[in-house]
Amino acid sequence: MHAWLCTTLEGVDALHWQELPTPQPQAGEVRIAVRAASLNFPDLLIVQGKYQFKPDLPFVPGAEYSGVVDAVGEGVTGLAVGMPVAAIAGTGGFATHAIAKAAQVLPLPPGFAIEDGAAFAFTYGTSHHALIDRGQLKAGETVLVLGAAGGVGTAAIQIAKAAGAKVIAAASTDEKCALCKELGADATINYSRGNLRDEIKALTDGKGPDVVYDPVGGDLAEPVFRSIAWRGRYLVIGFAQGGIPSLPLNLALLKGASIVGVFWGEFARREPKAHAAALADLAAWYAQGKIKPVIDARLPMKSLKEAFTRMGSRQVRGKLVLVND
Ligand SMILES: NC(=O)c1ccc[n+]([C@@H]2O[C@H](COP(=O)([O-])OP(=O)(O)OC[C@H]3O[C@@H](n4cnc5c(N)ncnc54)[C@H](OP(=O)(O)O)[C@@H]3O)[C@@H](O)[C@H]2O)c1
Repeated sequence: MHAWLCTTLEGVDALHWQELPTPQPQAGEVRIAVRAASLNFPDLLIVQGKYQFKPDLPFVPGAEYSGVVDAVGEGVTGLAVGMPVAAIAGTGGFATHAIAKAAQVLPLPPGFAIEDGAAFAFTYGTSHHALIDRGQLKAGETVLVLGAAGGVGTAAIQIAKAAGAKVIAAASTDEKCALCKELGADATINYSRGNLRDEIKALTDGKGPDVVYDPVGGDLAEPVFRSIAWRGRYLVIGFAQGGIPSLPLNLALLKGASIVGVFWGEFARREPKAHAAALADLAAWYAQGKIKPVIDARLPMKSLKEAFTRMGSRQVRGKLVLVND
C-alpha cells in the first residue's frame, strides 16, 4: 500500500507519499481499499498539531474516506469483503488502503455515489448537529451562514433549506456567492466589501438572523453577533480565519441570545444513538435529492499538497476529493 505519512508536525510540506506494509485488520477492525478521500479543514490543522485531536506520530492524515472493504478482522459483524463503505476514522484516508474500527465504518446504501460517501458525514453531520440539534432551527426562521461556500457551509445551506429556513449566505467573493445562490440561498452577502452589519440589517428588516452558523471566526464574529435577533443562537463551529474571537457578554444579555458550542466529533462519541439517527435523516434527504455534496474537483491522491494549498488559500468551493485510480 501507499500513504501520505506525517512524521513531524511541520505541516503539509513535511508529508511524504510512501510505500508501507499492508496492515492486517485486528479484532473489531476492517481494511478498506480507499477509492476516495475528501479534505476537511481539520486535516489541515492536524498535520500542524493545531487540531484538538493529536494522534501519535507517525500517522496517515485523512479523516473521511470511502472505498470497498477488502479484509475483515475477528468479531466484526455487518461488514463484509466487497461492501462499499464510508469511514469517519479521524485519520488514515490519504492512502490506497486504511484500517478502521468497524464502529467508524458505515455501509453505503444502494444509490449512494462512492465519491459522495467520502464527502458527506463530516460536513453534513456537523451542520445537522449544529442547526437542527444545537441551534433548534425552525421552519420560517432566518439563518446566516458564514464561509457559506466552504465544506460545512455548503452543507449548512442545504440543510437549512431542507428544514424550511430562510438562508442568507455570506462569503468572500462574488463567485462563491453565486454558488450559494445555486444551492438555494435566498440572499447572499460578499463580506470582503461593504458594511456587513448594514447588509444583514437590510436583508432581515432590521431584525437580524435567528441563527448564525460561524465556521470562520476572526474579525467576523463580533459584528455578526451584534446583528443577531432577539433570542438568537450563535453557533460556534470553527475558526478558519485563524483568530479565536472574544465577544463582550453584555451583547448576549441585551439580545437574550445564546452562544452555542458545536463539537460534532464529541457528539458522535458521547451520543451514538442520536448521531446514528441524524445520519439516517441525512441519508434519507440524500436519497430524496434534498442534499448532495458539492464537489469542486476530483484530484489524484498524489495531489494532496496541491489540494491543501487550495484549501489554505480559500480557493475551494464545496469539497475537494482525492481519488485512487
Ligand atoms: N465544530 C465542529 O464539530 C466542526 C466540524 C467540522 C469542521 N469544523 C470547522 O469548520 C471550519 C470550516 O471547515 P471546512 O472543512 O468547511 O473548511 P473549508 O471548506 O476550507 O471552508 C472554510 C471557509 O472559511 C473561510 N475562510 C475565511 N478565512 C479563511 C482562511 N484564512 N483560510 C481558510 N478559509 C478561510 C473560507 O470562505 P471565504 O473565502 O468565503 O471567507 C472557506 O470557504 C474549520 O474551522 C473547521 O475546523 C468544525
